[in-house]
Amino acid sequence: MKVNIGLKDAARTSVVKILNTLLADEFVLYAKTRRFHWNVVGPHFGELHRFFESQYEAIDEHIDEIAERARALGGVATGSLKEFLAASRIEEQAGRNPDARGMIEALLADHEAIIRALREDIEVVDGKFGDAGTGDFLTGLLEQHEKMAWMLRANLG
Ligand SMILES: [Fe+2]
Repeated sequence: MKVNIGLKDAARTSVVKILNTLLADEFVLYAKTRRFHWNVVGPHFGELHRFFESQYEAIDEHIDEIAERARALGGVATGSLKEFLAASRIEEQAGRNPDARGMIEALLADHEAIIRALREDIEVVDGKFGDAGTGDFLTGLLEQHEKMAWMLRANLG
């Protein structure tokens, strides 16, 4: 079925690619946050275990919304771990569990990297491709990541 929503095909294709790159970032960050939820140790275990859980649950919702937006624009949502790892701008840091503070620092750095990437993505989808809907959607995500980054940062004192 043809998608007739006032965006050129090339623009939609480019925006879907941007969404899939972000989807990869979020999936890698989801896995890392969940791994830290499982493996955190120390005197604040209970608190951090629950805190990381609330964060990966929020990221899980981002993942679904981003993938479904790619579909709404007529694209295909990436759903392969291999492709996520190849496309992600976030380092997975496999097999390495830092101490509790290091976990918070690593997640904070990832959220801040996503925030910076989102600022550029918003300019491109809105300015270059005229996709106000995705611009608005990504702006909402940007705000959520800013809040999550603040909560991580607040843990560091
Ligand atoms: Fe759990």
